[in-house]
Amino acid sequence: MEERKLRELLNSLNLDEKIGQLIQLSGEFFSAKDVSLGPQKKLGITKEMVDLCGSVMNVVGAKETHRIQDANLKNKKHPIPLIFMSDIIYGLKTVYPIPLGLGATWDPDLIQKAYRNTAEEAYASGNQVTFAPMIDLARDARWGRVLESTGEDPYLNSRFAESMVKGFQEDLPKYGIASCIKHFAAYGAVESGREYNATDMSENRLRQYYLPSYKAAVDAGAKMVMSSFNTLNGVPVTGNKWILKDILRKEWNFDGIIISDYAAISELVAHGFAQNNKQASKLAMDATVDIDMKSPCYANELKPLVTEGELDEKKIDDAVWRVLKLKNELGLFEDPYRGSSEELEKKSVLTPEKRQLARKVSTEAMVLLKNKNNILPLNPKDDKEIALIGPYENEHELLGLWAVHGDRKETVTIKDGFKTYLSSDKLLTAKGTDILRDKSMLKGIGLSEEQIEKIVSSDSVEKENNNKALEIAKKADIIVFAGGEHTIESGEAGSRGNLTLPDNQLQLLNKLFELNKPIILVNISGRPMILTDIEPKLTAIIQAWFPGTEGGNAISDIIFGKANPSGRLSMSFPYAVGQLPVYYSQFSTGRSVKTSTHSSRFMSKYLDIPNDPLYSFGYGLSYSKVSYDNLRLSSKEMNGESDKIVATIDLQNKSNVDTTETIQLYLQDKFASIVQPVKELKGFKRVNLKANEQKNVSFDITSDMLKFYGPDNKLTIEPGEFNVFVGPNSDTDQYDSFELK
Ligand code: BGC
Repeated sequence: MEERKLRELLNSLNLDEKIGQLIQLSGEFFSAKDVSLGPQKKLGITKEMVDLCGSVMNVVGAKETHRIQDANLKNKKHPIPLIFMSDIIYGLKTVYPIPLGLGATWDPDLIQKAYRNTAEEAYASGNQVTFAPMIDLARDARWGRVLESTGEDPYLNSRFAESMVKGFQEDLPKYGIASCIKHFAAYGAVESGREYNATDMSENRLRQYYLPSYKAAVDAGAKMVMSSFNTLNGVPVTGNKWILKDILRKEWNFDGIIISDYAAISELVAHGFAQNNKQASKLAMDATVDIDMKSPCYANELKPLVTEGELDEKKIDDAVWRVLKLKNELGLFEDPYRGSSEELEKKSVLTPEKRQLARKVSTEAMVLLKNKNNILPLNPKDDKEIALIGPYENEHELLGLWAVHGDRKETVTIKDGFKTYLSSDKLLTAKGTDILRDKSMLKGIGLSEEQIEKIVSSDSVEKENNNKALEIAKKADIIVFAGGEHTIESGEAGSRGNLTLPDNQLQLLNKLFELNKPIILVNISGRPMILTDIEPKLTAIIQAWFPGTEGGNAISDIIFGKANPSGRLSMSFPYAVGQLPVYYSQFSTGRSVKTSTHSSRFMSKYLDIPNDPLYSFGYGLSYSKVSYDNLRLSSKEMNGESDKIVATIDLQNKSNVDTTETIQLYLQDKFASIVQPVKELKGFKRVNLKANEQKNVSFDITSDMLKFYGPDNKLTIEPGEFNVFVGPNSDTDQYDSFELK
């Protein structure tokens, strides 16, 4: 539709019709049955407002979206198409590993392709917007939503933010889906890692570390932004004019839609920031929140606010304009179904090509954390019996909590994968134990007795499971233990204070350790877990995350050496919960354990645990051995902002196995008017190295990489000395220095 016509449409709408465009409701409001006594009554809004609603959340599938759209368009004075938005976070039907695993690929280009495929599935299924990517910087593994993030580093997160947005929106406006980035802002820094909690931080820290990934996504063209649940320095984001209006809209020129998180406008009252829903609506409007997701606020309060003169209708017009513009840009006025159909859906979802890509992504996401005596890869031709034990042995739930639309039946289990490599006489399998047996925790999550019974077996069945596992373990030469967290223990509202494997799994593992056989742990989890106590007794550890639809194949490809592991952690694995938040790019303290001359007690450290995590950011092994030598800089001086320095390092694959190595560049600004981290990632390259191949790899260091937010919170650059580190992970200590003149 021409812009002029769209304006005419806006001008022809009455106040109720306009407000309707700013309301988002969930699928149950559009059920074929009468909804007046159910969801409508519960939310407390009128039937008229339901009928005028402008967007629908979390309805997926061409059939259902068509039905709802048809009903919406019927008998309306202004038949404005609905827009369908969903949480399509890391795959719709073809599910990839959780984003923390995607971060571990260090391969944004590959993830762009994966998200392009997801957009295709979503498009065919009648969705036009995804509430993704979630790009919150995440440094506290207690927070269950680290699952949704690509990790602890602003630079790495920014590269993924761009690639994910581009993947979703690649073929907009014709195909593809619009991306709604979230949770803006600094939701990843909620205090104590507790869900829905408060964030408090200096503006300097916010700008330097927490905002860059959102900015990168906005610059990549994201069409929407979701405001986060948290308070930011005391002001809930959903009513926070400073972060939403001054920074997002004015400084960053974002003119797309801002949507609240689920019921977050009404939660301004619960926060103690607004007296009632009316004031909450006014505050959200003043902060330019355009769409109210699933709260009664806008539906009930905007009209009285306008008629009583408390809210300028122009603000409503601006918000409606942004909504109509997106609908128009997506071509919904020309085709309200946007080409979706059941037929197209069948052709698009879970195709062999899409599964193949998912298998590759999943394989690249696996991180090999330990491989004593090079026990891995296993050779399926060896005359050895392998016992596959553990609750994830034949488990279809490998998708993780946020794959809400994924079909568990389509998942390749680890056992399925193993069977493609091993003949039945060499493969022994047993579940051994449940994933989780903590009934009080499950009750706390709100599960019914019936649901709990499905998760927790009776004591006698548990005993039988244990015995069977021990029996096969005794026969086998090598044990693969597939364990980890339960899906419901991570993701939204999945904060935890203990990050070890569940007790029942540890008990079984301890019995297995007594057999003195090599044990390989395949750890399935939505977060970095604490593996400190069991690590010394394990021969190998593969961090597999929730690996997605092709998870079982990918795990088997790694274990049996079809693929050489190339994943690198995008978030540190803590040594103990007491370290959290733990991340590599800490500030130098006045009393660093590494450099201070104070006596050992009076240093910045814990008395009972080390400062360093068990496995640091960037860490991961492969089946090859690569050496890094002879780091050199093209010059020891950078003369002004237009100059650049080239850092080069020699690599050699000192093994007979081809590999892909992720070379990481870190910088340290040694003295600055705001203290800078001991090391910061500024670049990385994935490089293929054939067996025994030598290569050198170079990075350009430009003045942009040396900028930081100064004492006045403006980007600045200061002359002085910089250290340049190049290596395989953030622990690297190979460095050289230069001076910026
Ligand atoms: C979550 C968002 C999600 C929304 C809609 C909220 O509870 O915080 O991430 O997009 O629900 O499902």
